[in-house]
Formats: sequence, C-alpha cells, structure tokens
Amino acid sequence: MRRLCSDYLFEFAIRLMRVKRLTVIGSGYVGLSTAVALAELSHSVVAVDIDPAKIAVLKSGTSPIAEAGMDEGISRGLESGRLSFSTDVLNSVAGAEVVFLCLPTPQGDDGSADLSYIEAVARQIGPHLALGTVVVNKSTVPVGSSVQVGKWLGRTDVFVVSNPEFLRQGTALQDFLHPTRVVVGGDNEEAVEKVASLYAAVDAPILRMNAASAEALKYAANSFLATKLTFVNAIADICELVGADVFDVVSGLGLDPRIGDQFLNPGPGWGGSCFPKDTRALVKIAEGNGYDFALLRGVIQTNDEQYERIALKVVEVCGGSVSGKTIASWGLTFKANTDDLRDSPAIAILSTLKDMGATIRAYDPAARGVEMLPWVQRCDSALEACDGADALAVLTEWPEFASITPADVVSRLSAAVVVDGRNVLNPQQWKSSGFQYRGVGRS
Ligand code: UGA
Repeated sequence: MRRLCSDYLFEFAIRLMRVKRLTVIGSGYVGLSTAVALAELSHSVVAVDIDPAKIAVLKSGTSPIAEAGMDEGISRGLESGRLSFSTDVLNSVAGAEVVFLCLPTPQGDDGSADLSYIEAVARQIGPHLALGTVVVNKSTVPVGSSVQVGKWLGRTDVFVVSNPEFLRQGTALQDFLHPTRVVVGGDNEEAVEKVASLYAAVDAPILRMNAASAEALKYAANSFLATKLTFVNAIADICELVGADVFDVVSGLGLDPRIGDQFLNPGPGWGGSCFPKDTRALVKIAEGNGYDFALLRGVIQTNDEQYERIALKVVEVCGGSVSGKTIASWGLTFKANTDDLRDSPAIAILSTLKDMGATIRAYDPAARGVEMLPWVQRCDSALEACDGADALAVLTEWPEFASITPADVVSRLSAAVVVDGRNVLNPQQWKSSGFQYRGVGRS
C-alpha cells in the first residue's frame, strides 16, 4: 500500500513538473491567444488584464475579440480548469514558473516603441516573483529590451527570455499551435530550455539564440513582409501604367521558390496594429545605432502613398472631385476576418476623402469601435451602404463582397462607378454591366 502510494505521488510530481504554471499578463489578441493556446497545450494558465469588464467577459466563456476558435478555446480551457482569468496581477505572478508579458508597445511620438506599459508592470511584479521565475517578452520590443526588463524587475535571481510571436490576427490560435517556427532567445540556458519546453507538443523547429537576435528577428520578419507587399503594390501601380495585369505577373513571380507565392496580393497598402508600428520602430532602432535604413523608410513612405493613390482613384472616378459627393465603402477593418480598425488602410483612405468634402457611408461585418469615427455613417448591409452614393469603394476583402453582383447595386448608386481596392470583384462582370471599374494593378 505504501509502495502504491509513493508511486502515485511520484507520477503526480512528474506531472507537475511537465505541466507548467504560467501567467500571461495582458489579454489583448496576443496575450489571449497565448494563454488559450498554452492551456490547449495542457499547461495551467492564468490570463491577467487590468480591464475588469474584459475579464468578466472572459470568465463567462466569451471572447472579447473576433478570433477564429477563440470562444471554443476559452470554454475548453475554463472547463478543463487549466485556464483562468484574473485582474489581480500580483497574486497571479506569485508562484508562477513563467510569466509572459503580452502588453501593448504602441508607437511613441518619435516612431520608436513606447515601453511604458512593460516598464510599469515589470517594476510592479519584480518584488513578487519566486526565485528562478522566467519572465518572457512576447510583445514586440526593441533590441535590448530583455536586458532592460531585467533591470526594471530589479532582481538578479529571475531570468528574462525573448519569445516573439508570429501570430496573424484572425488566425492567431491556429498560428500559435501550428507555427512555422518557435523562437526563444536568452542568455541563460536553463531559462531558454524552460520556455522551449512549453512548446514540446508543437510540431515546429525551435530556434534558440541570444535575446538580441530573437528581438531583431521579429522586427526583421514584419519589416520584410511589409517590404514584400509594398514591392507588389508598386509593381501593381506600374502594371496599370504599362497595360500589364498584376495577377499574371504575380502568378509567375510566386512560382519562383526564392520569392514564394504567399503574401503577394496587391491592395490599398498594409496596415493593422503591427506593420506600421514595427517598421517605424525598426527605422528608429537602426537610426539609434547609426544606420540609416533608407530602404525601410522608402517602404513606409510608398505605403502611405498607396493609401493616397486609392483615394485619388475614387476622386478620379467621381470626375475630379469628391466635394459634396457620397462615397460607399465596403469594409473598414485593416483586413478581413478581424474586427480591428487600428491603422486600417480603409480608414486612412476614407479619412482623406472626408477631408476632401465627401460624405462616407460604410458597411463592415465585424468592425469594432466605429462609433469613434463620427464621420462614418455605419450601414447594416453592403447594399444599404450603396443607397444614394456617388461611388463605391471596396477597401477590405471580406469574402461576402465577392458574391454581390452589379445588378444588386446599380439601382442603389447614383453613378455606376467602383474602385476595387482589394481586387475582390470580377472586373469583366462589372465592366460588362456598364460600371466604370478601377482595380489595383489591372485595367
Ligand atoms: C502581422 C504578421 O503577418 C504576423 O506574422 C505578426 O505576428 C503580426 O503582424 C504581429 O506582429 O503581431 P497581422 O497584422 O495580423 O500580422 O496581419 P497580416 O495578415 O500580416 O496583414 C497585414 C496587412 O497586410 C493588412 O493590412 C493586410 O490587408 C495586408 N496584406 C496582407 C495585403 O495587402 N496583401 C497580402 O497579400 C497580405
């Protein structure tokens, strides 16, 4: 009996060793995805946020953000007892083996990342961490931040590791559980291995490196992707000028494995909560170290000009002025399958048109926070947005827009003109129905 009992205790101890007690501070899209996914990987996770309303929603088993599979993941985590939510930061970190910092790093006034949220939390939790705790920087932070966070924690007996995320909004859970790679950067081998072990059940290469390399890699990845898109958008603009079709050009480009066929859709310019902030931050990081990243500065500028180009296309189809005209927009979010309006190209373009005197009517199936834009008349359907408008602009690639036919909208618009900033409509179909059609990179 004694033997059986000790075997049981041994197994229980092994289980405790494998299943880590984790705390995730910040329950935005990165933090929440991290917490839910780590619970799916059998770890015991407390997700923390200072916003009591958000925590109340999460405790009820509902996601406050639109993310595929998130509601189900939260419910599974709560039911299994592996996932819990709290507003109590200090209680949540006491006894945690690993603490993830998933806090906002907004763009500061000079373009560099503002680390004030991270500093405040690091200073707050430092004295309350157990000896040997590993603090993980998951947020995108400038190179050198791991060292800086260590100083803010004010402890020499805890470790800081960089574990950047490569999650796309809308598919963040899927990306976490099926990543292309996991990156763990740090100077203490044991701490790096502890974080790497959290991903033992994930089928992806785990790259171990120093903290600076992991931090640099994250900025390099987002800046490269942004550069790729800006390049494609520039090629699209040139295609329009020379009578080429960007779809044909891109299909040939993508077959070269050195280029790859993903992330090549021309559009109104990139946006969202990551690319605009991270590209600017990398320019600042380079600048701070004596390197003028002229290439990336050019990419940012060209992207801003792309917003202008789309706005000007709308002006053009409206006969040279949008003053006193009404523009119908299909889409507001920065891409489809998210509810996020942060740094949305659609908002930048519509705001330019508004400043030129246009009235804006818009439909978006998911956008959150449109009430913060009082100049946007929000409509309940794509068709309603067209009522009485002088032109239609498609600014987010929601799949439902592709199935709307010209016949559905022609009688609602006061002129048959459309600027398809996402190339989601069939140009032949719209043109043959009498529409003046302008896409991106094709005539
Ligand atoms: C981006 C990266 O893709 C993620 O790997 C990264 O982890 C994340 O930033 C982050 O740093 O947290 P996300 O901002 O969710 O993810 O959006 P993307 O899907 O990358 O799209 C960014 C922008 O590029 C959007 O405005 C989108 O419409 C645009 N885009 C994307 C195009 O115009 N064409 C494309 O082919 C793809």
